Order: sequence, then C-alpha cells, then structure tokens
Amino acid sequence: PKIVFIDHLGTRYETEAPVGRNLMQVALDHGVPGILGDCGGACSCATCHGYIGEPWAAQLPERSATEVFMLEAVVDERPDSRLCCQIKVRPELEGLVVRLPAEQA
Ligand code: FES
Repeated sequence: PKIVFIDHLGTRYETEAPVGRNLMQVALDHGVPGILGDCGGACSCATCHGYIGEPWAAQLPERSATEVFMLEAVVDERPDSRLCCQIKVRPELEGLVVRLPAEQA
C-alpha cells in the first residue's frame, strides 16, 4: 500500500510499502529524513516517533505498555503519537499519513 510521510516542514514522501514491514523500516528504506530508528525496532529508543491521525489511527494496533512508556518518557507525546517501528504495514493502511516531529529532523 501507499504510505505517506510528511516532515515538519511539510515535505511529502510517498512510498510503496511492502506488507509486513514496519513503518520505521519503510521510512529508512526510502531515505525519509526525520525517522532514525536507532534501536532497530526494539521499542527502546523512541527515535521513530510519528503522529498518525484519523482515519488510520483507528486501524492501528493498540499501543503496548512499552510503547506507552517510551512515548511518555522520551518524546513530547500527543494523543496521536506512535512509535513507527511498532506498526506493521497491512493492505488496509492504504494512504496512511505519518507526520514527523521537528525534534527528530
Ligand atoms: Fe527504536 Fe522504534 S526504532 S523505538
């Protein structure tokens, strides 16, 4: 499916994401700036923070306790905050938009 990343300056990066890959990996695969993924997807660095709003937020898996902890401890968390490494690409996510925070740029 198509997954779109928008950086804090408003630049759009449209990707064709393989099912099963996580959103952090998709961003790195496509050279999207603003996603670092320092821990390799272990949910322990929070450098893959992004904002995902409706209608896609409702399609995402619940935040795990570890994801909640990392978001609260490390980043400037909002209700639509997610760690991109914790979200796997599925066909239903066609058109999903991830907005990236300025502090990761
Ligand atoms: Fe480290 Fe997502 S890549 S928490």
